[in-house]
Amino acid sequence: MKKSRDDNDKKKQLPDPSRRTFLKGVGIAGAGAAVVDKLWIETEASDAQATDPRVISGTVRLSLDVNGQKRTVQVEPRTTLLNALRNHAEPALTGPKLVCDMGTCGACTVLIDGKPAYSCLILAVDATNKKITTVEGLGSPENPNAVQAAFVEKDALMCGFCTPGFVTTISAYLKQNPNPSLAEVREACKGNFCRCGTYPRVFEAALAAAKAGVKTG
Ligand code: FES
Ligand code: FES
Repeated sequence: MKKSRDDNDKKKQLPDPSRRTFLKGVGIAGAGAAVVDKLWIETEASDAQATDPRVISGTVRLSLDVNGQKRTVQVEPRTTLLNALRNHAEPALTGPKLVCDMGTCGACTVLIDGKPAYSCLILAVDATNKKITTVEGLGSPENPNAVQAAFVEKDALMCGFCTPGFVTTISAYLKQNPNPSLAEVREACKGNFCRCGTYPRVFEAALAAAKAGVKTG
């Protein structure tokens, strides 16, 4: 079975608590090598079957409208939009980031019909017939939108992991309110967390983008 990039995302975050790991430990401690080898083979086979999503639930073929293009993905019904974009779209859209995966940090923010949304909380099947915009769709390195350009100019990032979420949120907000106060920018960004604490520069960049008064994507 083709290993999905989502599996890799998860593996980066979690230790492997599988029976295979346990059996390796047992094997070193006491069992004979031949017996352990047999157990490993059986365990590998049963793990593969247990984790094969097609065996349990099947998949559906979806057409998503992402950044003005039709993107087809083959996913399980339980697959989140974030997962579909990052791990099932070809080429992948990795601007939205997987951080908390539970709707608390905003790193996965995309625009759904122009409104910011946590893509980790939306099922891909529920995002069909909607206009999805990721940070990639707001501008490009050669032609950034006002917010992207201001983030670069104001050096508004450290690790940059939260940056696509902030850029997306602020880009949408400036369309609603092109001349916000600092307090309003802070309020607009309350659903996005920056663990590096770059908030002052993020807000500065948002105000600079507003001042530039150009199209925000
Ligand atoms: S990854 Fe979606 S809100 Fe944190
Ligand atoms: S720049 Fe690192 S989390 Fe925001």
